[in-house]
Amino acid sequence: MPFEPDSNASAAPLTQPNPSATARPRLSVIGTGYLGATHAVCMVELGYEVIGLDVDEAKIKALCAGQIPFFEPGLPELLAKHIDSGKLRFTTDFAEVAAFADIHFVCVGTPQQKGQYAADMTYVRSAFESLAPHLNRRALVVGKSTVPAGTAEQMATILAELAPNKEVELAWNPEFLREGFAVADTLAPDRLVFGVRSEWAEQTIRSAFEPVIATGTPVIVTDFATAELVKVAANSFLATKISFINAMAEVCEATGADVIQLADAIGHDARIGRRFLNAGLGFGGGCLPKDIRAFIARAGELGVDQAVSFLRDVDEINLRRRARVVELGLELVDGSYAGTKVAVLGAAFKPNSDDIRDSPALDVAAAVGRRGARVQVFDPQANANARRVHPELSYADSLDEVIDGVDLIMLLTEWQEFRSMDPETVGQRVARRNLVDGRNVLDPIQWRSSGWVYRALGRP
Ligand code: UGA
Repeated sequence: MPFEPDSNASAAPLTQPNPSATARPRLSVIGTGYLGATHAVCMVELGYEVIGLDVDEAKIKALCAGQIPFFEPGLPELLAKHIDSGKLRFTTDFAEVAAFADIHFVCVGTPQQKGQYAADMTYVRSAFESLAPHLNRRALVVGKSTVPAGTAEQMATILAELAPNKEVELAWNPEFLREGFAVADTLAPDRLVFGVRSEWAEQTIRSAFEPVIATGTPVIVTDFATAELVKVAANSFLATKISFINAMAEVCEATGADVIQLADAIGHDARIGRRFLNAGLGFGGGCLPKDIRAFIARAGELGVDQAVSFLRDVDEINLRRRARVVELGLELVDGSYAGTKVAVLGAAFKPNSDDIRDSPALDVAAAVGRRGARVQVFDPQANANARRVHPELSYADSLDEVIDGVDLIMLLTEWQEFRSMDPETVGQRVARRNLVDGRNVLDPIQWRSSGWVYRALGRP
């Protein structure tokens, strides 16, 4: 269907000709972090013209030069392709964005506030306040950031007060991409959720996802509050699923049972499902931990804190796993880390990412270091980020280097390179054959038969 932003003739005249009015809408993406950069690049891949904006000039310079400032498989190739095609550009200028695009996606971050559970809404508010005064023609502004329920309502008020064109509207469209699979998740999402208030807003946002909808992707059209909640509910469910299996791992440790077999057995029940039942060091990253905490904070404000009080347990179970891994290692080095040499495999919060936000692996590495071990970390992609936050730890450039002469190996992020280690080859480089498998990805029988003392979470 052709895009007709001003089909209701009452709309104010355009301040400048819009060459895309009869074709696909032109898009802007505000905020070029993990979500925004991926969204901008993938929307061009889907056939749209896109302008990306960030207030961070260094980031924009890098993107213009074809560099993605984080590790995401497949994204650099697509960025290069589309910078060359001329359909993707970047700016720091809100006026340019407003003049160019028919639909604006707000993709800025909502990190956890320092010392509090609640999300920091500064960037979202600032994005809306900076964009709105430039909206001289009818446009749809689409919130994609993960936000506390009630935010969309506030952003709609900002648009109504500050946008010169009074037909500018808001939609809320949560995103569900996973780091490491961000390109695939954006090009072929499980579902699309559109929080809208008018037929025009629904049709307009549909026009921005037309190629995705054409492949049969389910679309759920809701009000603002539901759209906001879908995202936090989904992440809360995923976090709960991981903490459930990790709670079972604690019970397995007390009974001698095996949590991997337990997960396999319950996972065969289609109502439960095996995905996200991998017991181990637990969840980290820039999303699940801060989203459940922000949800707890917001539910408190809404007077329904009891409804999500279980999320406090979910968080605590998750953090207890980190302490447990430190203890397991301690048992292997005879009760004292002092003077030992420990190799930590992995620093990113999960494989195929260089993101170290709330990384369980780095938390454990730092704790072991504080207890007197000489800790050396190796991550195939996240060393540089880890070094910035934990300069007190040392870092190796390869797997061979990090395991050289160590008393203990702790596998904490399950990169393929670590999963496929050979116990004999590794055994020849270490001082002592001690291993904690914090992600339950190695075969205990194989490692033990090569003379390793192998310990894992939730398994005998
Ligand atoms: C998560 C959600 O999965 C996405 O759907 C969502 O869009 C995103 O947050 C977001 O809010 O932006 P992500 O943070 O990239 O995505 O990572 P996940 O793949 O969900 O993994 C989160 C953590 O859980 C990782 O530390 C991982 O190691 C851990 N995990 C995952 C487990 O410990 N066990 C599992 O079985 C699965």
